[in-house]
Amino acid sequence: MPIKFENVSYVYSKGTPMEKQALSCVDLEILEGEFLALVGRTGCGKSTLVQHLNALLNPTQGTVYIDSFVNSADKKKRDKKTHPLRKNVGLVFQFPEYQLFEETVVKDVAFGPKNFGDDKETALAKAREALLRVGLDESFFERSPFELSGGEKRRVAIAGVLAMNPKYLVVDEPTAGLDPAGAKEMMDLFRNVHQSGTTVILVTHDMDLVLAYCSDVIVLDHGKVVKTCKPVDLFGDDVTQYSLQQPMLFDFAKSLGEKGYSFDAATLRDVSSLAKQIAQGRKK
Ligand SMILES: Nc1ncnc2c1ncn2[C@@H]1O[C@H](COP(=O)(O)OP(=O)(O)OP(=O)(O)O)[C@@H](O)[C@H]1O
Ligand SMILES: [Mg+2]
Repeated sequence: MPIKFENVSYVYSKGTPMEKQALSCVDLEILEGEFLALVGRTGCGKSTLVQHLNALLNPTQGTVYIDSFVNSADKKKRDKKTHPLRKNVGLVFQFPEYQLFEETVVKDVAFGPKNFGDDKETALAKAREALLRVGLDESFFERSPFELSGGEKRRVAIAGVLAMNPKYLVVDEPTAGLDPAGAKEMMDLFRNVHQSGTTVILVTHDMDLVLAYCSDVIVLDHGKVVKTCKPVDLFGDDVTQYSLQQPMLFDFAKSLGEKGYSFDAATLRDVSSLAKQIAQGRKK
């Protein structure tokens, strides 16, 4: 099993008045090749969960397996060498400004490949390629990452992770702060990365993205896994109980349904799949 959580709990500031249980007895599996969405209301534990994937956090209880790496509450079982894990799992934080620190954009993105053994020129070449992939042209390369807009910083942080060509790409709300066209470009990039063999784990509040891009979805609520399914199966349910919204596309299809059209929900993923069904004249 590539990624497995076994009875994982996490408590912030354990034993202090600030103690907060963020994850409770989480069991889950993530298969190679998935494009997984991790969703749920604000504060349900998504960011806490993904930080276990590259051992930024260690469980308070239970064990996370990432391929052969063991991240366990039991210190004796836990792997100490995080270097190989961090090459395999590329995590882009929810707040990317915390991830940037070099004096120029290109050096910042080259840091990862250099840190994992590439010589300076190879690392810079990978950095330039990754920056172009995220839509930042040469005019950005020598700028300070701290003088960029929020959306540009996010792109630099994503490039920094892509430059390492990780086996698992974990992105925590990557489209926050991007304009709609930029968000679509970024999601299309993740789709390409996924198609080239990377397992993608996406934390998002945008259910239209889940429907359009993801193969599987896990819903967290109050630190617990409450649902694991295909996106279309989630949106057939009452999702408001988890403080989620139906994708706009589903609402639209429902309204059209009330006007006499019927739809095959299983193949509804985006506007063009909806349009195709309408064009085929699926009148009741
Ligand atoms: N450093 C911290 N110290 C104490 N409590 C924390 C800390 N970080 C998060 N928490 C708490 O842990 C819980 C889970 O937080 P987490 O950031 O994982 O939620 P989330 O699902 O990512 O939320 P959002 O959708 O708002 O990003 C929340 O109740 C939060 O207040
Ligand atoms: Mg979060």
